[in-house]
Amino acid sequence: MAAASPVRPAVLVARAIFPETVQRLRAHFAVEDNPDDAEWSRAELIRRLQGKAGALLTGTQRIDDALLRACPTLRIVANMTVGYNNFDVAALDAHGVVGTNTPDVLTETTADFGFALLLAAARRVTESEHFLRAGRWTRWSYDLFAGAEVHGTTLGILGMGRIGQAIARRGAHGFGMRVLYHNRTRLDATIEADCRATYVSKAELLREADHLVLVLPYTPQNHHIIGATELAQMKPTAVLVNIARGGIVDDAALVEALRTRRIAAAGLDVFEEEPAVHPGLLEVPNVVLTPHIASATVRTRRAMADLAADNLIAFLTQGRALTPVNAPRELRMAS
Ligand code: 8YV
Repeated sequence: MAAASPVRPAVLVARAIFPETVQRLRAHFAVEDNPDDAEWSRAELIRRLQGKAGALLTGTQRIDDALLRACPTLRIVANMTVGYNNFDVAALDAHGVVGTNTPDVLTETTADFGFALLLAAARRVTESEHFLRAGRWTRWSYDLFAGAEVHGTTLGILGMGRIGQAIARRGAHGFGMRVLYHNRTRLDATIEADCRATYVSKAELLREADHLVLVLPYTPQNHHIIGATELAQMKPTAVLVNIARGGIVDDAALVEALRTRRIAAAGLDVFEEEPAVHPGLLEVPNVVLTPHIASATVRTRRAMADLAADNLIAFLTQGRALTPVNAPRELRMAS
């Protein structure tokens, strides 16, 4: 009698991703995917996770105690994102479930986009394009869309992880900027030297920056870390860029600061209630708005999907995730 083939672990791919990545997963697992990118409710997600050992997620699915209780076979949740504020890490630890993210592969691409937003907001790129497209450009004038200087100014960075450092290098080496940063912990002197970045207090950062880029993770402590008080401490000529997470900035306070020109402009890729955008942001001209696309190049999104898949493969076939965000003392066993 032929030996029964071993049962392959089942994994869920919660959103549509590159078909090639799903194909790679099928070589190892029984895969349920979502090629039509249907919007699943939380109840639907929980239903589809029954019997699954792993899930490939895109950062918007909340993984908490209640979900982990309801999905007792789940052993790994692999985010296709570097940020993992959708994970309740304490709950993952308590249930012996590993969470993974996709660091490094998106660092330079996301830093590029931080600069794209900074340049677009400071130099009024989208505002002037709308003007031109509306047929309102009839004659040149000396102050037509005169904006703020970028090169040679002071760049402030709040949150100095990998992406913050990549932005610092662009500012210092590419645009000749003085770079100041604030972070939970000060960086090693060698990294500071490489980035040509100087550690300052948050208050000094707000006061000194000509342009402030936010690249810190979202945590309850960082909720509205930039609100009316902080915006009031910034230069009236300053540009604020957020490529981190909605909720770090108080969007209502920012609308007010932009409307009253308390700061000059902003570039935002993330929003408190995304994909809904604060209606006030749609009305002020001095803001550049993009739909959470800082990591969106074809190559980088492919690398993110592949790293999330590699985490599932490495963990479920060899017991070791490549880029875990936690290390539970005891892991859930295969059922
Ligand atoms: C994701 C991101 O594409 O990696 C992250 O943390 O914010 C982006 O690169 C986004 O989270 C998708 O929802």
